[in-house]
Amino acid sequence: MKKLALIGLAVSLLFFAAYPSLRNTRLGSCVAYAFGSFREVAQDRSERFLGKVHEDTARCRGGEEAVQWHATPWFDWQRYWATGEQDSRFTGLISGLGFLSPNRRGIAGALLDMEYQRIELLRFNLFDNSGTFQEYVQGRNGTAGSAIKIWPQLRLPHEHSAYAAVGGDGPQRCRGELIRFRNLTGICNDITNPLMGSTDQPFARNVPFEATFPDLGKNEIVTSRHSDRLGLLKPDPQVISRQLFSRTQAPNNSCNEGYGLPGYAPEANCDYQKAPVLNVLAAFWIQFMTHDWFSHLEEGHNQSELMPMGCTARHANNADQPLTPAEVKYLRCRPEDRVDKSYIAADEPPVTFSHAGEPYLTRAYKTTLNKVTAWWDASQIYGYNDVSWKRVKRDPRDPAKLLLEPVRTSTQGAAGYLPLLQTSDYTNPQWSGQESVAFPDNWNVGLSFFHNVFAREHNLFVDAFRKQAKETPEKDSGLRNAERPHEQIKYENVTPDELFAVARLVVAAEIAKIHTIEWTAQLLYNEPLYLGMNANWFGLLGTDKQPLVRKALERVIAQLKKSDAEKKNTALYSVFASGPGIFGLGSHDYRRRFILFGKKTDRWDLSELEKHVNGGVNHFGSPFNFPEEFVTVYRLHPLVPDLIEFRELRNDSNVIRYKIPVMETLRGKATQAVHRYGLADWALSMGRQRAGKLTLQNHPAFLQNLSTPRLKNATGKIDVPALDIIRDRERGVPRYNEFRRQYGLRHLRSFNDFIDPSLSKNSPERGRQQQIAGLLREVYGQHQCEDSKIITVAQVDNNSAKITDCLGHPNGSMVDNIEDVDAVVGWLAEFARPHGFAIAETQFQVFILNASRRLFSDRFLTSSFRPEFYTHLGVKWVNENGPDGMIKQKGKSNGHEMEVSPLKRVLQRTIPELKPELDPVVNVFDPWARDRGDYYSLQWKPRTGAGSDVAFKD
Ligand code: HEM
Repeated sequence: MKKLALIGLAVSLLFFAAYPSLRNTRLGSCVAYAFGSFREVAQDRSERFLGKVHEDTARCRGGEEAVQWHATPWFDWQRYWATGEQDSRFTGLISGLGFLSPNRRGIAGALLDMEYQRIELLRFNLFDNSGTFQEYVQGRNGTAGSAIKIWPQLRLPHEHSAYAAVGGDGPQRCRGELIRFRNLTGICNDITNPLMGSTDQPFARNVPFEATFPDLGKNEIVTSRHSDRLGLLKPDPQVISRQLFSRTQAPNNSCNEGYGLPGYAPEANCDYQKAPVLNVLAAFWIQFMTHDWFSHLEEGHNQSELMPMGCTARHANNADQPLTPAEVKYLRCRPEDRVDKSYIAADEPPVTFSHAGEPYLTRAYKTTLNKVTAWWDASQIYGYNDVSWKRVKRDPRDPAKLLLEPVRTSTQGAAGYLPLLQTSDYTNPQWSGQESVAFPDNWNVGLSFFHNVFAREHNLFVDAFRKQAKETPEKDSGLRNAERPHEQIKYENVTPDELFAVARLVVAAEIAKIHTIEWTAQLLYNEPLYLGMNANWFGLLGTDKQPLVRKALERVIAQLKKSDAEKKNTALYSVFASGPGIFGLGSHDYRRRFILFGKKTDRWDLSELEKHVNGGVNHFGSPFNFPEEFVTVYRLHPLVPDLIEFRELRNDSNVIRYKIPVMETLRGKATQAVHRYGLADWALSMGRQRAGKLTLQNHPAFLQNLSTPRLKNATGKIDVPALDIIRDRERGVPRYNEFRRQYGLRHLRSFNDFIDPSLSKNSPERGRQQQIAGLLREVYGQHQCEDSKIITVAQVDNNSAKITDCLGHPNGSMVDNIEDVDAVVGWLAEFARPHGFAIAETQFQVFILNASRRLFSDRFLTSSFRPEFYTHLGVKWVNENGPDGMIKQKGKSNGHEMEVSPLKRVLQRTIPELKPELDPVVNVFDPWARDRGDYYSLQWKPRTGAGSDVAFKD
């Protein structure tokens, strides 16, 4: 020990002696970085890290390129070693020196930066709208707000049917039948907070309430920031849609506004900018997910009152001017479009309180309700209230199964298809002719695909369970009834209702796994994110490789959870959870019989409701629900192409047979299209085609002209991209620059800041981006700035001075109205992104927080991921991606040995015809015929066997 200390001292002395000559070299920077202490977590929001590290740290993790990137508004880590494709890797001699390798430093540095972001987000960005916020700020009886775990606001109300069962007027604790499975409305996921995450709870916020609804002009900061330039229709949302969102079409390319050509002729073409490594399945997957997590609409409706949608004014000479008929014609927008107003839950002035001399609001100026459960519980399939539950059809021959029926066409697999809605099942006439599912809104061929696939998966699980029960009827299924926690339930005694509920748990967990390690890893296609997403699920240390460390870390976490100290409860908890992973956290409690002796056994016990069953969840002091801002960053409509390139499995997959307009596969027509061509050909077609890139000028034409008969407005249509803007304004989402500041990101000072700083001066792409910056200026305008006006309290500038209306430009100069840019427009305009990111860093920041919380808060994905709920077969099915054990993918991908991906296993089971086509596929969301190259390549090059695929000719 002494020797080590001496060596350490000698190295330090040597370093400080040599420091002047080493300064600004990589070695010098790395030594300075190594001897510096860890960054303190910010105590105040103005001290946040902003994704920016010390210059030495940047140099050590990514060389001079990382140092230069430091001046840009964007995360530093995207320029660290090995965070991009092959050319981002350090290839010198030391790259092979294990932990001394710059590549390791780059990747570890990126992960560390992201962890700091998560800690800060957990500390500064939780704002609950259900009435708990005052205690979050002030604490309760000496407990810090962020350590509070039970809230009176989340008790079941008197009129709730389960009120007495959870304890009525006394302390409410879910028990018995109420805690066994996922309940229809999402109650009792958290045993001590029955209402949390259930249907009809308010959306939360990730920004202080004072920063919401900027167009109401409620405080001086807001009026200084936006003056009187904002309104529901200001700047005009349809003008934004047509000028900034429309896909540019080459002349005579037969797109025909998204209608293509008669007979779906393959010669049709609708130009769109393509996401390099993401396919159309990925686009519809995320819509399928959002229908599980949130909805503002009830049965596809908002309020009955209609409102205008713009197409009336444009910005010129820094003022709004009415649009002339010629301009309306040129823009192709529609002044007569009308849409139903958003539901609002509360809009009376919020109660205020003060703490440490500061005034606070108890909620946002207006609130809205999440009309589905916020849990990752597959409620889009299984229901979230009584009306949706009626649409979930169970098989009368085996009520543990979902009803699937044969369809009389030649291309169908044996597994069957979901039945159609009956008139008595729906309240929205637009849904007539669709499949009967819990969440039927905005139905299309992609949603039909995933609903059918997971209904089949549900039934396959039931079949496997029944088979097991037949073979070993007397064996313990693992399932328990919480009322008799220690009584075995044999396979033969599991009832159809119980098996249905178990299958729901399994399907929901499989979906969560696919989303975390397959969809997200492809959406954010680089090494740090591959590791990060796998860490969320399996733990940074790997489940099977480091079981001892995993267990040790779990103990540390358990210790931390007991602590009330604010710092421990949020910061350290989040860090240590990266060790063993969030999924399954607290689902074991390994202890020795005696303190030092005896074999360790798992003491997890179903009768220990708070300690074990509920013991793995952490809400960080703020009840879980998605924030309004989360919905904003999921407005991903550009992912959808206008035409689907349709292929046939039995007829040379490399040929595009038809171009089918997505518009022709909506609502009831989706069901017809799926029945006519079969799931296999749709999988092949959507699997091979690239999704749209999430960028400006890339929204589908068909969504700008979506027919909406239910509204009965004069045009019969709405512009959905314009509606995206309007809805965010109705719900008070801060505009882009303040949004970034509130999330701990650097703001922009002009529209030119959107231009990717890494582009060379004369590149055509730079020219294109400059032109878009000009368009933003045209739409949002400029104003003469006043340096005396302070526009935010979220951050200070680089010199620790208040940020003003001039954003660092000279007083009185003309500055871009960058503060007015709608959040969606802003993140779509982010051209500089980390390697392989289909989304922008602003969206990613929102995901870091909420994707983790969605796991941290859910008992069934943490401490109740146990055979007592899932059965032994269910736990195995989720862990091993099905009933046949883990299966290794041939070869390596991006340097990793990988399991056959979970969605690939699901597709192999549910659509067996796909097996040969799926064989080379590593990630189902990567275009299926693409050669993945060696290391996070984004190239569009065919894999072996797909050389003749016409899609690779463009
Ligand atoms: C054919 C495809 C699609 C159609 C026809 C469609 C249609 C719509 C419509 C009409 C709305 C507005 C509802 C309202 O506020 O009144 C909407 C909202 C939304 N869409 Fe889509 N959409 C499609 C695909 C997608 C995809 C691929 C995503 C990806 C995540 C997506 C995400 C959203 C989100 C997040 C909202 C806001 C929901 C809410 O306010 O609760 N949509 N969509």
